[in-house]
Amino acid sequence: MKTPPTAADRGAPGAAAAEARTAVVADDAGGSADGSLSGDSDTVLVVDFGAQYSQLIARRVRQCRVYSEIVPAAVTASQIAARRPCGLILSGGPASAHVDGAPRLDPEIYELGVPILGICYGAQLIAEQLGGSVAPNERGEYGRAEMTVGGDGGLLLAGLSSQSSPLPVWMSHFDAIVSPPPGAAVTAETPASPVAAFEDAGRGLYGVQFHPEVEHTACGQEIFERFLRQACGAGSGWSMDSIVETATAAIRGQVGDARAICGLSGGVDSAVAAALVHRAVGDQLTCVLVDTGLLRMNEAAAVQEAFSSHFGIELMLEDAADEFFAALAGVTDPEAKRRAVGEQFIRAFERARSRVPDAKFLVQGTLYPDVIESGATTGSSTIKSHHNVGGLPADLDFELVEPLRMLFKDEVRLLGAELGLPSEIVHRQPFPGPGLAVRIIGEVTPDAAETLRRADAIVREELREAGLERDIWQSFAVLPDIRTVGVMGDERTYGRPLVIRAVTSSDAMTADWARLPYDVLEAMSSRVVAEVSGVNRVVYDITSKPPATIEWE
Ligand code: XMP
Repeated sequence: MKTPPTAADRGAPGAAAAEARTAVVADDAGGSADGSLSGDSDTVLVVDFGAQYSQLIARRVRQCRVYSEIVPAAVTASQIAARRPCGLILSGGPASAHVDGAPRLDPEIYELGVPILGICYGAQLIAEQLGGSVAPNERGEYGRAEMTVGGDGGLLLAGLSSQSSPLPVWMSHFDAIVSPPPGAAVTAETPASPVAAFEDAGRGLYGVQFHPEVEHTACGQEIFERFLRQACGAGSGWSMDSIVETATAAIRGQVGDARAICGLSGGVDSAVAAALVHRAVGDQLTCVLVDTGLLRMNEAAAVQEAFSSHFGIELMLEDAADEFFAALAGVTDPEAKRRAVGEQFIRAFERARSRVPDAKFLVQGTLYPDVIESGATTGSSTIKSHHNVGGLPADLDFELVEPLRMLFKDEVRLLGAELGLPSEIVHRQPFPGPGLAVRIIGEVTPDAAETLRRADAIVREELREAGLERDIWQSFAVLPDIRTVGVMGDERTYGRPLVIRAVTSSDAMTADWARLPYDVLEAMSSRVVAEVSGVNRVVYDITSKPPATIEWE
């Protein structure tokens, strides 16, 4: 769960930061400066007031085949107008709408004539800014609530109570709307929320106190459908084939007849990015696999095999293990490691480029959550500097091509399938760019990397043997920087423990630890201790995300 920001957090961004945050919204009509993939289809902008669910809202809209992007709360009416969205959704957020200093919507946005759906804080904000009122409730309302639809339910809720009455919805708020804006009808209530939903269809204003984006709100997707189709008049033209066409055209426009290099890591993101760029510019693309010394067992060989046979393009192997280990010597701070790895990647590409002297572009498989988590769009706090976003050295001498930077992981997999990539690549578990470096706690040495590589191979092998690989988002081993006492063959040992991490997730934004069967854990543990020298103990990480992250660093 997100902790409410402090006043300092809320007021923090200076002019430069605010400018950087809003830069994601283009000034020119019809497209984002940051590679919008809307093509000709309708766009809905999700204004982010710091909600933990903003990305989920954007994905729900996209599931209705309407393109959506997240924009920061500080967005202005002219920036919104320039994008010509067919609808706006105001997200929830941790602030209190009735308190001084709470983030607000530029009031002129209400005058644009664009239909607006406010969710939780977003609904309270509409009420507060347009003449209704919001006040602290006697008690908060968290989790499942029973909602009664009043009158005809309006555009959003009409007829839904015939599915179930009362309707189960998901709530998470302390403040409550006391009265909606004048002219708006109250369309639903719960025991703790007299105004659980309101609307003024004439003005295009809709507010729901509950969260239609979470799956516990049974009719949530239907509510998005109604808002998008009936209130916004959105079509359903946004689809994988339209994304392929839009992205291909954008890549051709950016790269022209120049040459591009794409680093393949073996993961699905770089593979899909490469396939897309290859579709756009054919043999102007050269793929490079950097052997960092931090790859998984047999990874370099497997990637070479899959890509040269599948794409029919030559893959250059850049052996940079010595350089990576030298750069990581003595480095223990996770962010410093990420920076060191990011920098070595670029250096390795620069060396590869000397073999493709006219390469001007570097293709990266950066995803939308990476962009958001790196604080590049919303001003949200930086959780980790993903090496392909925040960790790039300042003297980068390539122009970046990031064709996936507006997509979520599940969309990237669909895109990969649409592009004809084989299923073993499309459904491969994600592997972070910094590789094993962020799974070796403390100093990264060749010995530690070898120990971890062997243990990691066993963990993944046993999972595959058990037929569980497709149910698990990621499963891997982590080597902590501590020693533990053991006893093997009557001898005292003083070795390193190994942590097994296996999580389920749909997008890596949240994750739960996987309830692996005990016999699978048992097989992993006994094999690791027997086969990997230096490891004398195995533990299983049972932390979800949040509060932990998937990787240990
Ligand atoms: P965390 O650890 O933040 O990871 O919960 C979320 C997902 O992102 C992957 N990850 C990365 N991927 N570059 C990447 O390409 C990175 O620097 C990076 N760091 C984490 C991680 O494996 C998980 O799938």
